[in-house]
Amino acid sequence: MNEKDALKEIEKLREEINYHNYRYYTLDSPVISDAEYDRLFKKLVETEAKFPHLITPDSPTQRVGAIPLKEFKTISHTIPMLSLSNANTDEETKEFDERIKRFLEIKGEIEYVAEPKIDGLAIELVYLHGKFTSGSTRGDGYTGEDVTQNLKTIKSIPMRLLQMRQSEVRGEKSETTYSIPSRLEVRGEVFMPIKAFERLNREREKMNESPFANPRNAAAGSVRQLDSRITATRPLDIFCYGAGVIEGIKFKSHWETMHALKGWGLKVNPFIKICKGIDEVIQYHKDMEEKRDKIPYEYELDGVVVKVNSLDLQDRLGILTRSPRWAIAYKFKARQETTRIKEIKVGVGRTGALTPVAILEPIVVGGVTVERATLHNQDEIDRKDIRIGDYVIVQRAGDVIPEVVTVIKDKRIGSEIPFKLPDKCPLCNSAVIRDGAIHRCTAGLLCPAQLKEGIRHFVSKRGMNIEGLGDRHIEQFVENTVIKDVADIYSLKKEDIIKLERWGDKSVSNLLNQIENSKNRTLARLIYSLGIRQVGEHIAKILADDFDSLDELMNASYERLTEIHEIGPETAESIMSFFKERHNRDVIDKLRKAGVKTEERVHKKRDLRFKGKQFVLTGTLSIFKREDAKELIERLGGRVTSTVSKKTDFVIVGIDPGSKYDKAKELKIKILNEEEFKDLLDIKQNVI
Ligand code: IVH
Repeated sequence: MNEKDALKEIEKLREEINYHNYRYYTLDSPVISDAEYDRLFKKLVETEAKFPHLITPDSPTQRVGAIPLKEFKTISHTIPMLSLSNANTDEETKEFDERIKRFLEIKGEIEYVAEPKIDGLAIELVYLHGKFTSGSTRGDGYTGEDVTQNLKTIKSIPMRLLQMRQSEVRGEKSETTYSIPSRLEVRGEVFMPIKAFERLNREREKMNESPFANPRNAAAGSVRQLDSRITATRPLDIFCYGAGVIEGIKFKSHWETMHALKGWGLKVNPFIKICKGIDEVIQYHKDMEEKRDKIPYEYELDGVVVKVNSLDLQDRLGILTRSPRWAIAYKFKARQETTRIKEIKVGVGRTGALTPVAILEPIVVGGVTVERATLHNQDEIDRKDIRIGDYVIVQRAGDVIPEVVTVIKDKRIGSEIPFKLPDKCPLCNSAVIRDGAIHRCTAGLLCPAQLKEGIRHFVSKRGMNIEGLGDRHIEQFVENTVIKDVADIYSLKKEDIIKLERWGDKSVSNLLNQIENSKNRTLARLIYSLGIRQVGEHIAKILADDFDSLDELMNASYERLTEIHEIGPETAESIMSFFKERHNRDVIDKLRKAGVKTEERVHKKRDLRFKGKQFVLTGTLSIFKREDAKELIERLGGRVTSTVSKKTDFVIVGIDPGSKYDKAKELKIKILNEEEFKDLLDIKQNVI
């Protein structure tokens, strides 16, 4: 294929893929099978690989995340992103309507648009000539963080705006066609669907990472990730609810704006509705709240946003300090009820964390019977002064785990019992220590709760991948003390297993075969499978790249660990304290003795061609982003400093270099322009 044909092919594939993304992620109504989609995508990846210079940042293949950033840049919003004032009752909402009528001196009904208020993170997207060019968080309303790379990974955010041809498919043929503006600023709420949030938290617990408190925190944490490859793994979605600057088009109403956004392929909430007068708004609020109690929404709603539809009227109404006069958030009732704490139980989580759980007299809260509520930790219990026997207000925040809001102290009769978490683990009787706000059992994998989870993690698909060891078997082996630590997996004998229930000759030898095969997994998998806190699959790979063997990693100093890009102080400390534990060292010793490979035989040596070299960057770089250049140098063992001195080995100059350039000339230091630097990196050979 020549270049011209390739470009045509690439354009065609991109357009097709963008359209199918839109059908799948925005409309939720795909028109091709997953396999067909994968085929198209694969074809695009292959064609782009043959002609890499034809790859553009808005290609669907570029949604997978990029090199991590050191910090976010800031982006100013052309028009400030405001917040909303709240109403909590029908009366307050009617007052809002009256204020508007008074201000505008209008007697008749105002036309409103009512829409769900999604609980997520406000962001702004900028499209230039239909191409997604940047995206930012709300920040302080005037400037936010540049999270472009992260937003690119959200599939319901189009990389290119679509034209009418596509939106016709939605059966809205009467819709006016809006040509694509030269500049479009779109506002919306990024959120994490509740099911996806729950799945993510289960995974995090497995990886010994602390779970997110609610979907909003999960969404915000994911968007504000410096490593967009992590964002790419998070199931995020968006609803667009407004616009900033739209160059060249003047809409008459909010409703019309929302329709134009839909026509350009942006995702707008399907429950958005025109309400003639405030009574219809109040009815809408009631309907939405009732629906919430009957069938939980796929995402967290915390109320309804009411907006004056006419943009002219919006202009006349203007802004009152930080929120517009023309809109209000009519919140839903927090779903709260009163009940009594019968007892407080203590659960032991996968990381050994002791979690106090209140066992309640069952109570129906918003249609769901609640019997337990999390008390989080001891600090929370002390702060709220929660005692066994207390009457408490419980709340279902959104659709997640119920919690105790407050104690009704007036109802105390004196027999309530204060609660303290035990200093011995309720499962294994080992010592419990305090680790920040958390009480933790110190027995690690010797504690049955932690051991079962540790084994589950060790044998998991991404770990040592021993398929024949399912949850039921793990329970069975731990309960029968056939396995007392993960290394015992490798000393399992046929005669030990066969006497247990549900095992036969064939299943035992299958399992033993799989265990045998797992001895040769990569070092990265072995490191991951140990379940060190903070060390997920990605960090495990980085560690395996840097160290030749588990031994070397075990004895690495704090300095040696933090020298590695992406290993921060917390991760380094977690790795060190894992290997300091006698028990963990013994397990590793046992693994080695059992024949588990603990070093990488084919070792790819890291390219450290800049080891010991100092670089200074000056002027505006045009080929590289400054942070990328810095990272590339550091990855190859070099260091970037800010001042030119005799110790400097190279000065890389961009456009308009400053005094550093003169100093470099004066000290006769090697000066490189960006092209020369690129050659030095040998980017063509892809060594980076
Ligand atoms: S309109 C001036 N519409 O609620 C108008 N906001 O407290 C500002 N939000 O920062 C926002 N859903 O993050 C609007 N349908 C919706 C919304 C919505 C959620 C969030 C948004 C905003 C906050 C306002």
